Amino acid sequence: MILIDGKKIAAELRQELKKEVSDLKVKFNKVPGLTVILIGDLAPSQIYVKNKEKSAKEVGLKSDVIKYPDNVEEKVILDKIQELNLDKSVSGILVQLPLPKHIDKQKVIEKIDPFKDVDGFHPVNVGNLSSGYESSVPCTPLGCYLLIKKIESNLNGKKAVIIGRSNLNGKPMTQLLLKENCTVTVTHSRTKDLKAECLKADIIVAAVGIPELVKGDWIKKDTIVIDVGINKTDKGIVGDVAFDEVSKKAKAITPVPGGVGPMTIACLLKNTIDCFKRSQI
Ligand code: GUN
Repeated sequence: MILIDGKKIAAELRQELKKEVSDLKVKFNKVPGLTVILIGDLAPSQIYVKNKEKSAKEVGLKSDVIKYPDNVEEKVILDKIQELNLDKSVSGILVQLPLPKHIDKQKVIEKIDPFKDVDGFHPVNVGNLSSGYESSVPCTPLGCYLLIKKIESNLNGKKAVIIGRSNLNGKPMTQLLLKENCTVTVTHSRTKDLKAECLKADIIVAAVGIPELVKGDWIKKDTIVIDVGINKTDKGIVGDVAFDEVSKKAKAITPVPGGVGPMTIACLLKNTIDCFKRSQI
């Protein structure tokens, strides 16, 4: 069994990105810039944003965080995004989710210039990804994809089962694996026999938010198992996969924590650099 060390693979990716940023600096005499908008004081969001800022600085990006109180008016955010859209020193814009209830998430996402949309949430990027065109790709599924490719470079004809159909993970993950010629089954809360679906899979991506849902007898041997879940339970943070059971059978599996998580931030940095490069063409 291969324990997929997301921490190590993310550190290697950051090293490559650092080199790329320093090459871009020589070539263009400027570095890519990431601006994060953070609204309110939700603790998890504060931690994520701090980590994003730290990682961005480590690879040599210009990194800014703009903070607003919980009661900020929607118009203030939309105007700030417009300003950042026009600012040539800003390559990527990320508005940390979730947003306070009085702010329309979709309006905010659609205000971001699709070429600066490092989350890949803008409908233009969603459409481009599903049409197989170049686009920003949401960071978590992109991280999962890179981990899968580390284990198996040729995915032609592999059976992939995605658990969860969210816009953030399940749907973009589906598109990425379709592009690699996988046969993809998207499962969700109304799927009739999830175990039977999982037993057919060469690759399982669990992104559904149910602690330890995927059991040892749900997988055949030689399956690659990617666990996107981060669930708080009495016994601490666990994924969507019952790790102890599943790791005895799987060909490869990501731990929680230390699997997908570190890749998400590394992919955000990659997306920022890619947005910069596209803006220089
Ligand atoms: N909140 C939790 N995950 C994410 C993410 O990937 N992007 C944004 N913008 N907010 C998040």
